[in-house]
Amino acid sequence: MARKKIDLAVDFCGVKFENPFLLSSSPVSNSAEMVAKAFEAGWSGVAFKTLNSDRVPIVHPSPRMNPYNYGSKRLVGLQNVEQISDRPLKDNLLDFLYLKKNYPSKVIISSIMGFSNEEWAYLAKASEDNGADMLELNFSCPHMTVEGSGHKVGQANHLIEKFTATVKRAVSIPVLAKMTPNITDMTEPALFAKQGGADAIAAINTVRGISQIGLDDWTARPNVAGIGAISGTSGPTVKPIGLRFIADLAKCEKLGLPLSGQGGIETWIDALEYILLGSTTVQVTTGIIHYGYRIVEDLIEGLSDYMLERNILRVADLVGKALPTLQETDKFNLESQGIASYDLDRCVGCGQCLIVCNDSAGQALEWDAQTRRPKLIEDKCLSCMVCSFVCPVSGLITYKKQPSGWQRRETAVMGEGLGSELKLEAFK
Ligand SMILES: Cc1cc2nc3c(=O)[nH]c(=O)nc-3n(C[C@H](O)[C@H](O)[C@H](O)COP(=O)(O)O)c2cc1C
Ligand code: SF4
Ligand code: SF4
Repeated sequence: MARKKIDLAVDFCGVKFENPFLLSSSPVSNSAEMVAKAFEAGWSGVAFKTLNSDRVPIVHPSPRMNPYNYGSKRLVGLQNVEQISDRPLKDNLLDFLYLKKNYPSKVIISSIMGFSNEEWAYLAKASEDNGADMLELNFSCPHMTVEGSGHKVGQANHLIEKFTATVKRAVSIPVLAKMTPNITDMTEPALFAKQGGADAIAAINTVRGISQIGLDDWTARPNVAGIGAISGTSGPTVKPIGLRFIADLAKCEKLGLPLSGQGGIETWIDALEYILLGSTTVQVTTGIIHYGYRIVEDLIEGLSDYMLERNILRVADLVGKALPTLQETDKFNLESQGIASYDLDRCVGCGQCLIVCNDSAGQALEWDAQTRRPKLIEDKCLSCMVCSFVCPVSGLITYKKQPSGWQRRETAVMGEGLGSELKLEAFK
C-alpha cells in the first residue's frame, strides 16, 4: 500500500523516465529483441549499443571478454575488447521504430560514434528521425584505434566541442556526452562538451586496464589468437573510479549539467551512491551481464524501500545529497580524534585484530593468553580501524570519539641511544 506513494520517476534533460535505471550501451542493449525484454523487466530506458554508419566495417574480436575473478569472488570486474555495434545502421533504426511503437513510455537514447564531422551529424539526424528521444555521443570507447574516434576524442577537447556542436545543430533532442575515465580531470573535457552545447554528461565508460596475464602463454586476456591488449575494465572493480568522476563533475559549478552515472552498479545501494553524488539517471552493463535484466527488480524495490523508510517521495530529493560533506582533505577537523572500541563479550578469540594491529597499525593490542582476548592500549590506538575490517564478528569493533585534548602516545623510537651517530641538519 505505502509503496504507492513512492514515485521513482525522474526528469532528465526534460525527458521523463519512469525510474532512474537504464541499460548502458553494450551487448545488453544490442537489439530491440533484447531491449524489449529489459523494458518488460522494468528498466525505464536504454542507451542503445553504439551505432555506426556502415562506412567502416565493424568486426568484433573473438573472444571479446574475460572475467576478472578475485579469490572465490567471480566477475568482480570484466575485461572487454569489443568495438561499437557490428549491425547495419538500418537494422538498428528499424529496432528503434519497433521499440518506440511498442514501448512508448520507455526512453531510447541513441549512442552514436562518427569518424568525421559529417558522420556525427548524419548518425544524429538518422537517430532522431527514427524515434530516438535522446542522443549519447560516444567520446569514450577505449578500443577504437583510428585517430578522431572513441576515447581518442575523449582526450582531445577541441574535437569534443566540435562534434557536440555539430550534433546539436543537426537535431533538437537532448544530447549527452559520454566521457572516458582514462584521463586525470574529467571536468575539462566536460566543459568543452558543454561549450559545444551538451545537455548532460554520462560517465564512465570502461577504464583501460589489464586484469589478467596468462601464466602459460604470457598473453593479456582476452587472448585473441595470440594477441592481448590494454582494454576496457568494467564492473564493481571500477565503481570507486566512476563515483569519483561523477562527484568531480557534480561539484564543478561551472559545469552545472545533469549527470548519468555508470560503472560497477549491481545493487540498489550502488545506484543510490551514484544518485547521492549527483547522478539523476544511472546505467548498467556488467551487473546485467552477471545477473540478468531481473536485477532491476532489486534496484526498484531497494530504492523504493529506502525512500519509504526516510519519507523521501522524489528521487530528485536524493540527487547530490552526499556532495556538501565531500571536501578537500585539508577541511578535516584534526582536533577530533578517536580510538577503536571492543565489545569483547562477542569476541571469538581468533586473533586477527592482533596480527593486523601489530603488522600494519599502531601495535596497540596485547593478547591475554588466558582469556584469549585482545586488550587495547588506548593511547597507542591510531583509530585506523583496520582491526574492524578483519574481525570476523560484524560490529564488534567500533569507532569511539575521545574527549577534546586527548593525546595519542608518540610512536616509539628504537634508535634513541644512537643520537651521536645521526647525520642530519635542519632543513632551511
Ligand atoms: C562488452 C562491453 C561493450 C561495451 N560497448 C560499449 C559501446 O558500444 N558504447 C559505449 O558507449 N559503451 C560501451 N561499453 C561501456 C558500458 O556502457 C559502460 O559504460 C561500462 O561498462 C561501465 O559500466 P558497468 O560497470 O555497469 O559495465 C561497453 C562495455 C562492455 C562491458
Ligand atoms: S584501530 Fe588500528 S591501531 Fe587501533 S587497535 Fe585497531 S588496528 Fe590497532
Ligand atoms: S578479530 Fe575480532 S573476534 Fe578476532 S580476536 Fe579480535 S576482536 Fe576477537
